[in-house]
Amino acid sequence: MSYIDEAHKRRTFAIISHPDAGKTTMTEKLLLFGNIIREAGTVKGKKSGKYAASDWMEIEKQRGISVTSSVMSFPYHEFYVNILDTPGHEDFSEDTYRTLTAVDSVVMIIDSTKGVEPQTIKLFKVCRMRGIPIFTFINKLDREGKDSLELLSEIEEVLGIESYPMNWPVGMGKRFLGIIDRYQNQFVHFKGDETEDIIPLDELENGNYAEITNHASYESTQDELMLLDEAGNQFDPERVLKGELTPVFFGSALANFGIRTFFDTFLQFASQPKPRKTNVGLVPPEHEDFSGYIFKIQANMNPAHRDRIAFLRVCSGKFERGMSVNVSRTNKAIKLNQTQQFMAASRETVDEAYPGDIIGIYDPNVYQIGDTLTAGKDSISYQELPVFPPEMFRKVRVKNVMKSKSFRKGIEQLVQEGAIQLFRQESNEEVILGAVGQLQFEVFEYRLQAEYNVSVEFTSIGSRIPRWIGNKDVDSRLFDSRSLLVRDRYDRYAVLFENDFTLRYFTDKNKDIELIDLLETNDYK
Ligand code: G4P
Repeated sequence: MSYIDEAHKRRTFAIISHPDAGKTTMTEKLLLFGNIIREAGTVKGKKSGKYAASDWMEIEKQRGISVTSSVMSFPYHEFYVNILDTPGHEDFSEDTYRTLTAVDSVVMIIDSTKGVEPQTIKLFKVCRMRGIPIFTFINKLDREGKDSLELLSEIEEVLGIESYPMNWPVGMGKRFLGIIDRYQNQFVHFKGDETEDIIPLDELENGNYAEITNHASYESTQDELMLLDEAGNQFDPERVLKGELTPVFFGSALANFGIRTFFDTFLQFASQPKPRKTNVGLVPPEHEDFSGYIFKIQANMNPAHRDRIAFLRVCSGKFERGMSVNVSRTNKAIKLNQTQQFMAASRETVDEAYPGDIIGIYDPNVYQIGDTLTAGKDSISYQELPVFPPEMFRKVRVKNVMKSKSFRKGIEQLVQEGAIQLFRQESNEEVILGAVGQLQFEVFEYRLQAEYNVSVEFTSIGSRIPRWIGNKDVDSRLFDSRSLLVRDRYDRYAVLFENDFTLRYFTDKNKDIELIDLLETNDYK
């Protein structure tokens, strides 16, 4: 099979959700389908989201870093599946966002009893910004949840995306009978014992299934379906691929109900690897030269063996172990000998990889997040990874001034690596760190100590709303401690607003200042 056929088989995606919506349970079911694990419960124990952030370092040490759970790959029917893990909320960080740049599709799980929750909204926005196709799975139908039509309109209104239900539930909770699969014209009967009976829709009404068709829930479903047929959106795979329309599936991950139908349909419509933007235009996966970019670097926190793994998304051509590649940023050649692929619980040496695949490469401290590696003659760089707006901010100071030099060096390195974001307060040059998740501060503190022998002291300035300034000239007198004027590592001006109110007040008063929300713009550099 040619590398082009291999690339077209790839389905690379992430599952996003608010904690407890059922991501782990769903992942586990998919791994069971892929014969990657034999029993349920295998993935469960690894779940990092349930630990308190302060336990993190100890846990990472015990687990020998969570690299193994970061990517799960397996063949399934005619496809080759790569599932990228996005961590739970306690270790939520920019890594989570960057991981989403490396996928071609996303599955969004929504808990039917809760609806659209905050973490889902945040992750969804990032996917939206990048135009990633989004598939929705509404979970926990075996429980009494929100009305299905209400859930649909919540998705459309809160998230601002059009939806098309691929199937529709009949009842819920104790009265849950199953789903009407609108796409395959069949009824999937829920029996509560992890088995599914499939009945073609034209047979359902023939009188043999009175226990279903005479059920009150079934009748009300008919009205809802009519409404959806008449007033709902049309299914349009093109619009799904553009991220404009989300196909919606209902089911129960725990009861293993509707998962197989969902997965089979999802793989059919999910995006195969697409051309990606570089400094010299779009490079398609079919391009014969190998290329890829690094979206995540994971350093081992254990000072005894400080190995770092860089995660590379293969974008074009074929990867072969031992090949020489060029790092675009430094223009240095490097031989890729130590490369790994991830299969749920184990790492294996990878000899070949294709567009859509994620491989881990040993990093002798030469890579940075965003680096492009290519085996071609032309130097290309994949589009710079976006900077994500941090939400938490802390001033940081070195405890012992004698260590200032190491402090600066450490910060510079960790910021370059993408572990945390750096700002300087305009009025006094104090260093402010910005993070998306709490854990980033802890990792920062730990690594400065372990790798640079520097102790630091934080002062929180709370959660802030950052806005970048589009204007060329800025009058520093307009700002105060509620609207803190800072510069980022690229020397761009930004304002850290204390809350929504100060942001609105400032906007009203200073209409001529252009404030940019990085989550809403894709191309501010
Ligand atoms: P997460 O990774 O998104 O955080 O969620 P996870 O899969 O861990 O699921 C969160 C809880 O929801 C778990 O219960 C899980 O068993 C339950 N759950 C997942 N899918 C379904 C479903 O379809 N129906 C029902 N009723 N429950 C579901 P827990 O009590 O927190 O954990 P456990 O003690 O059962 O493992």
